[in-house]
Amino acid sequence: MPHFSELTPRPADALLGLMAAYRADPRTDKIDLGVGVYRDQTGNTPVLAAVRDAERRLAETQTTKVYEGPQGNLAYCEAIQTMVRGSDPSGCAITFATPGGTGGLSLGMSLYRRTRENGRVWISRPTWPNHQHIAQTVGLQVGSYGYADATDPGVDLDRMLSDLGEAKRGDMVLVQGPCHNPTGIDLSHDQWLTLADFCQEKGLLPLIDTAYHGFAASLDDDIAGVQAFLQKCADVLVVYSCSKNFGLYRERSGALIVQTDDEKSLEAVRTHLADVARAIYSMPPAHGPAIVATILGDADLRKAWTEELASMRTRMVELRRQLAAALQPRSNSYDPAVLNAQNGMFSQLPFVEGGIAELRERGLYIPGSGRLNIAGLVSEDIDRAAAEMSAYL
Ligand code: LMR
Repeated sequence: MPHFSELTPRPADALLGLMAAYRADPRTDKIDLGVGVYRDQTGNTPVLAAVRDAERRLAETQTTKVYEGPQGNLAYCEAIQTMVRGSDPSGCAITFATPGGTGGLSLGMSLYRRTRENGRVWISRPTWPNHQHIAQTVGLQVGSYGYADATDPGVDLDRMLSDLGEAKRGDMVLVQGPCHNPTGIDLSHDQWLTLADFCQEKGLLPLIDTAYHGFAASLDDDIAGVQAFLQKCADVLVVYSCSKNFGLYRERSGALIVQTDDEKSLEAVRTHLADVARAIYSMPPAHGPAIVATILGDADLRKAWTEELASMRTRMVELRRQLAAALQPRSNSYDPAVLNAQNGMFSQLPFVEGGIAELRERGLYIPGSGRLNIAGLVSEDIDRAAAEMSAYL
């Protein structure tokens, strides 16, 4: 019998499948609110000017493509670690460059599994669909905690803590950093503090997925909740992605930071991370991290990047405001005012059953979760998008 004849095809990934369907649609008035990539007013996902400058410098100065080692670019690791932990952190930590945030999540969960054969990771309800996929692929069990519904003004922390009350000491809790995917609803600073205390008291291992740093309020404000965890909890994992905030999507530039209680554990962690990485990809991609290290290591480039990031953020805030305003006069049961309290690229709308499929027929591409990539809108499309969507809210 042929070797693969018993394999049945897998369904397409919720987001990547939608991206492919959108690309294959010949209509010129289609609107892509699917996969999370930033777009400018012309609908383009630009290479940031700071990235172009850094690439130019690298092309002129790079002398070799020789292997870097399992941790990847050490200047990058240090720059990301400092940006996340601050310049004067307590405790000890190590950072590995990873193939995107996905690679960081996979590496972090694999490390955790080596400490807990029957480990369980708790993920928010709802969350980015790949969280569950990565956890299960690594061999972990999955639990879920209530977080927020599309119509909620903020995170329902009571429900979250009550669900996490079921977690056992040693379980992992995946918390998203700023700009929750898919809801755009973030923990308040007080909620971050409460959750960090809860995890430390219950002996839960936090894994904080930070994929949208700088897209909510500012680089400093956005990382404050993550830093609260790093200060309050002894052992913490943070995954960082440069896909969105540096616009480096295809360069696969992520990182995993592991903070441990003591140096001895940290050394063991280092060897296990290198061991896992060796078996999957050996060493992470180098180009994206070299770009990021160049930008963060140069005052002018860093300033230029910070300003570009601010302009992406401002554009998304404005688009969200325009969308809420366009939905307002048309809405029945849904109150679009809640949109204005949300952050980052995404918001989730409570479409009626079958509404998302109908909208696809009409040229609006929205994932089955009802998540909108706000950054996929251009101002001229907002009125039409609001009119179409409000028919199904
Ligand atoms: C998304 O959620 O759309 C992005 O993070 C892209 C991805 O890899 O799914």
